[in-house]
Amino acid sequence: MQLLLSTLLAASVVSGRSVLEYRATPQVYSSCINDNDIALTFDDGPYIYLRNISDQFTAANAKATFFMNGNNWDCIYNPDRISDVKYAYAAGHMIGSHTWSHGDLSTFSSDQIEDGMYRVEEAFSRILGIKPAFMRPPYGDTNSNVQTIAAGRGQSLALWDQDTGDADGNTVAQSEAVYNAVAKAKPKNALILQHETEETTATTLVPYAIKLFQGEGYNLVTLAECLGVDPYQAIGVPQAQSDAWTCDGTPAPGKGCGGSITCETGTPLFSSAAGSSTSGAPTAPSSGANGGTSSTASLPNAAVSPAATSGGSTPAPSDSNTGSHTSSPSATPSGKTGGARALTVPAGALAGVIGLMMLL
Ligand SMILES: *[C@@H]1O[C@H](CO)[C@@H](O)[C@H](O)[C@H]1NC(C)=O
Repeated sequence: MQLLLSTLLAASVVSGRSVLEYRATPQVYSSCINDNDIALTFDDGPYIYLRNISDQFTAANAKATFFMNGNNWDCIYNPDRISDVKYAYAAGHMIGSHTWSHGDLSTFSSDQIEDGMYRVEEAFSRILGIKPAFMRPPYGDTNSNVQTIAAGRGQSLALWDQDTGDADGNTVAQSEAVYNAVAKAKPKNALILQHETEETTATTLVPYAIKLFQGEGYNLVTLAECLGVDPYQAIGVPQAQSDAWTCDGTPAPGKGCGGSITCETGTPLFSSAAGSSTSGAPTAPSSGANGGTSSTASLPNAAVSPAATSGGSTPAPSDSNTGSHTSSPSATPSGKTGGARALTVPAGALAGVIGLMMLL
């Protein structure tokens, strides 16, 4: 028994290590995998059209995916945005990270990339009690450093294979022409970029796309579903709101940490169950003061500054995804796409080992 236990313990250590190594493999998806699925994805929110878009998908028995910023067109901690984010999540739509400030990660230092990922993870952990499994790099701009850091934080990168150009100055007719071309080409699947922040996207493009693609017999599903993977690394419980939930003192739209804004490079607090503030899921190793393997190791903002107000809208949002960058996500390193199940394995495997140990 003693021997068995120590063997299992050793196995769990090895498993834990290999889990981290496995996760460190960069994953970049620019297309769906499953047949007959179309994932319509919406960037740059949460914003004032989120609820409307969510409702349109729900009414059509379809699902959307939202890649959200923390501080871009609005502050995610604005009470209206908190409520809208909860609403869309509760409706079963997928929530992914679009980083805190929508800065161009390919120009950020490692600490700035970590910080940009950390802050929006923290917001999702607080508001929804989830750990995102996908991050869409703003502008689709990425590099090997971004991929490695994202993988270390347990997240795959999500690009796209069709761009409506809705935030790039395309007219509604031009965006609709993108949908029409997809419908005409009859691909086995499609991963399409839109923006939650454009009024005409909510009022015109969304109903148009839903009708068109459902009429063609496609399933409108989340990105995770069209890939056949889990949308989240872990699902826990939301936290109680506090004065720490603020965009004050955080990187402004388009900006990175540094100067007076300390870079957060650890893992945010995650509540896996009511009354608990620990995470059962393995966390990535991280550099910096907040490092460690326990998610409770870092509590940079919680219970500190009772100063700031919530909300604080930001008048100058960072450019939408494509902006002056062209709409060619395939220009980014997409050769590493693949391994659809990479993210789902580790937590389950580790939990299994832990479960086995508890049985003994
Ligand atoms: C979304 O907003 C448009 C424009 O205000 C409105 O016509 C439509 O009914 C709304 N849809 C839903 C589902 O709320």
